[in-house]
Amino acid sequence: LNSVPEAVEAIRSGEVVIVVDAEDRENEGDFICAAEKATPETINFMLRGRGQLCVSILPDVGKRIDLNPIVTDNNAPLKTAFLTPIDIATAKTGITAAERSQTIQRLASPDCVVDDFVRPGHVYPLLAKQGGVLRRAGHTEAAMDLARMAGFAPAGVLCEILSESGDRASRAELVALATQHSLKMISIEQLIAHRRVSEKLV
Ligand code: 5RP
Ligand code: CA
Ligand code: ZN
Ligand code: ZN
Repeated sequence: LNSVPEAVEAIRSGEVVIVVDAEDRENEGDFICAAEKATPETINFMLRGRGQLCVSILPDVGKRIDLNPIVTDNNAPLKTAFLTPIDIATAKTGITAAERSQTIQRLASPDCVVDDFVRPGHVYPLLAKQGGVLRRAGHTEAAMDLARMAGFAPAGVLCEILSESGDRASRAELVALATQHSLKMISIEQLIAHRRVSEKLV
């Protein structure tokens, strides 16, 4: 695995990184980038993961543009906080890499307003905890934290990575993918440890 500063530097450069969560959690690797840097090319690349492309945001953004939880009683095992799926108002179908990129970049903009979007759409916002990975050790918070740590708006794009067989990609497959595409790869545990030290919480 790479170091957290290496991953943050990659995010700052607009690159995609691979982030794995704990082996006793989902044991998944997600492609992650900063929402502000989510170009059509980057989204197109991340969709190779063949997971669910989502964008994590903080509560203030959700409130401002009236995004509510997709269900009232979230009984999913890890309580992944799906909000109303949206499209940029100008989208034709909302699903293309270019239109998802526009939706995501607008969502990351500090001046986005409710009328910028139509609902239901094809981009799944996820509500991140304000404290990031220190509050919840999920990819939702990792994506938001990495964007924030790289100096961007606190919004991150994520997409799970499946193997050829359709199963979750294994650690070995993720390492091979990272090597093949020259991507940095870190774990959420590393991110938690890094934040604790750098923010003098230990
Ligand atoms: C949304 C998911 C993914 O696992 C994603 O990584 C966000 O979930 P979490 O924050 O629980 O890791 O289910 O497609
Ligand atoms: Ca999940
Ligand atoms: Zn996840
Ligand atoms: Zn998942």
